[in-house]
Amino acid sequence: MKKSRTERNDPLRDGYSRIIDYLRLSVTDRCNLRCIYCMPAEGVTPWKHADILSYEEITRIVGIAAGLGVKKVRITGGEPLTRKNITFLVRSIAQITGIEDLTMTTNGVLLERYAQELADAGLRRINVSLDSFRPDRYREMTRGGDLEAVLRGIRAAEKAGLLPIKINMVPVKGLNDDEVEDFARLTLQTDWQVRFIELMPTGSHDFWSPDRYITTDDVRKRIEAIGPLEPVKVRSKGPSRYFRLAGARGVVGFISALTHHFCSDCNRLRLTADGKLRPCLFSETEIDLRSALRGNADDAEIGRLLRLAIEVKPEGHTIGTRAAKGGSVGCGASGAVARKPMSRIGG
Ligand code: 5AD
Ligand code: SF4
Repeated sequence: MKKSRTERNDPLRDGYSRIIDYLRLSVTDRCNLRCIYCMPAEGVTPWKHADILSYEEITRIVGIAAGLGVKKVRITGGEPLTRKNITFLVRSIAQITGIEDLTMTTNGVLLERYAQELADAGLRRINVSLDSFRPDRYREMTRGGDLEAVLRGIRAAEKAGLLPIKINMVPVKGLNDDEVEDFARLTLQTDWQVRFIELMPTGSHDFWSPDRYITTDDVRKRIEAIGPLEPVKVRSKGPSRYFRLAGARGVVGFISALTHHFCSDCNRLRLTADGKLRPCLFSETEIDLRSALRGNADDAEIGRLLRLAIEVKPEGHTIGTRAAKGGSVGCGASGAVARKPMSRIGG
């Protein structure tokens, strides 16, 4: 008798032979910050509670995905720590057979309070989004955030063993790009992985512009003025390329969403807080799992939809090419890129 995929334990492969073993779960579109590149100052009405998936629904999906070969889960938002009783979800997912790695991306504002209980519940690591070490500038870029709270949060995470700490920094020309060297220097004394992410044309429609956008190559040149960068192999797959300054304890990473295509290494699928499977960050294609779940679909049907999302995963995006041709990246074929903030897709 022919064995099912689950019994054979074959990895899930998309149409371009990429192994898909990573699920990014956005658990809320709400956020306690409003970063200028992510959200408009006002006018975004958050989804209603009934619209977003319950923890039971999310856990069920992850269980089915794990049966199909998903091994790694990242919890994102919005800001995941703003969702009530998030530790409960962490514990439920950590207990699912087959999930080997469970991580979270947070802005760190509430981390001091939650770090230890998240670690106890089975969270392995965290990524903290942090774009400035200057309190005034941090407040400006996040429209009101308290840098001290985030720094306390990072210390709490270190103490709780959520290691290595990864910092996500989005350099924006004329705003915080003069801190690139300071961020890189942090790796000399800490074990942190400091990752520089190219500004993407998501969310705040008007924010992305060639005047604000700074390429990985430029960021890298600035860091190389401190000293040479040695490429390092970091265990994780994914879009980051890592390097070490001579003698540094930590590493710097570059996520070049626009200039260097990372699509060929893409191993992920996204689930939005309102239950849509999104095969690619930069594509409008979404598969509605919520309707299936609430229409009493059985596990086999949910599994079929997960496989379908993987089958339709596009080979790559062309945002960078369009940006290079004149900067009009917000409109056009991938309009969803501009319409939806990361808080609605899951960063
Ligand atoms: N460009 C680049 N990075 C972004 N993020 C959110 N919006 C953007 C954007 N437009 C980042 C956040 C966070 C991660 C989840 O995504 O800073 O670190
Ligand atoms: Fe919130 Fe993250 Fe968007 Fe900033 S980038 S507003 S922290 S969801």
